[in-house]
Order: sequence, then C-alpha cells, then structure tokens
Amino acid sequence: MQKITHLTIRKQKQEKKPITMITAYDVLMAKNVDEAGIDMILVGDSLGNVVMGYDSTLPVTLDDMIHHTACVVRGTKHALVVGDLPFMSYQESPLQALRSAGRMMKEARCDAVKFEGGQHVCDAVYKITQSGIPVVGHLGLTPQSVHQLGGFRVQGKDEKTARTLLDDALALEAAGAFAIVLECVPTTVATTITNALTTAATIGIGAGNGCDGQVLVCTDLLGMTTGFRPSFVKPYADLHHVITTAVQAYIHDVTERTFPDDEHSFT
Ligand code: KIV
Repeated sequence: MQKITHLTIRKQKQEKKPITMITAYDVLMAKNVDEAGIDMILVGDSLGNVVMGYDSTLPVTLDDMIHHTACVVRGTKHALVVGDLPFMSYQESPLQALRSAGRMMKEARCDAVKFEGGQHVCDAVYKITQSGIPVVGHLGLTPQSVHQLGGFRVQGKDEKTARTLLDDALALEAAGAFAIVLECVPTTVATTITNALTTAATIGIGAGNGCDGQVLVCTDLLGMTTGFRPSFVKPYADLHHVITTAVQAYIHDVTERTFPDDEHSFT
C-alpha cells in the first residue's frame, strides 16, 4: 500500500471517496489502526484528556505533542500522520506558529500539523503552508477555547454563527489548508461548508454525515473510555469489558495458583 499524502486526501475529496481518520497517541495503537487501513491518524491534543489524565487540553505542551507524535510516526507505514499544535504554541504570532510547526515536522517527523481557529489564524496557515508544511484546520467546538466558548457545546446553531463558520472555512481553504476538522456543528451547516469548499476536505466529529470524512478518538471508538461519552460517539467494541474481564481472570488464576501451569513454566 502506498503512503497517503495531502494530495491523496485532496483527490479523495474530488472523487467523493469518504476519508477515515482516528486518533492515536502511541506506537501500538498506531500499528493497529494503520494495519486496519485508516487514511489519516491524528495525534490530537486530546492526549491531555485521554492519556495524561488532565481535565482539558490546555496543559498539554509542545514537547508532550512531539514526544507522542514521534511514537505514532514510528508505528505508521501507510496513513498520513497529523500532529496537533497545543494551546499557546501558535496563538502568539504566525512566526511562533511556524516555529512550532517546524519542530513537529523535524522532531516528530509527522506529515502535517493541525491547529484550531478561523480567519484570525489564516496568516499562520499561509506562512506554514508556504514553508512546505501541510496544514489541517479545526473549526466549531475548538476545545482550546473552552473558556471563551463557555463550555463544550454545539457551535453554529444560529444563522450568524453558521455564516462565520462558513467564512472561516473558506478563509482556511484560501490560506492553504488541505483539510478542516468540523467539531460539534449541526449537520446542515457542516454539509453547506463541505459543498462550498472546492479543495479542502472536511473531517467531521459530531458534524453529521455530509462531511468529506469522519474522525473519532480511538479510545471512544473502541469502548475503552469510562465515564461521560459524547452522544456523537459510536463505540465499535467494548474493550473496557474485555480488559477488565481478562485481568480479573488473571487475578483469579494467580490467587488460586493455577497460573503459571506447566505449559507456561520452564522445566
Ligand atoms: O485533539 C483531538 O483529538 C481532536 C479531535 C477530537 C478532532 O482535535
């Protein structure tokens, strides 16, 4: 199988071939999802919640992102790997954004970077893409702005905010983004944006079925997440149950001295 690039993703949009994306944070998950045939792997700053135990993405550092993105790159042969730029690693200026994107590419060796925001980050998107680094945008519910948004809520529900989302998406495309994540946006708004964009592919999460592709957090998709689960998540497995059942069986066998048996011991 050939390595997927941003050109493959752009072509899939033109051909209306749905684009598949999933998050991963380590080499083991990267190998599994890559072998399954996924198009894109996102090393999201959801790393903060999923792996690092924070209650938001805000504390995640650029060094954290580079460390985990490099692990994922080492486990990936086929998929396009996107590294997320964390909070305050690009908001200061286009130059700061370029430097952070450059570190991701040089140190983690991913294929593209993603960061949140619309028209106000387009100078950064332009500078980074002009420097030869493919960029994915992120609109709608942008978790790094959770305090400004007043919580995790659906975005673009009225005409004015939906119009702003469309203008933001068009501006990101014009600045050079090859894909845009649309998070928690009404289906009609996401579909309108998808149809309005001619070269940038939309990747939805909680944005309905009219996008060019879909992304889910790997632990949500696999049913490993305990506690709150967003309504747009469809778990395709119940790994939490599989893991706890297996570990309980191991605890039982060790406690009862039935493990290790002769088959698993040296004579
Ligand atoms: O950080 C992340 O995992 C993301 C996805 C939820 C799109 O941005």
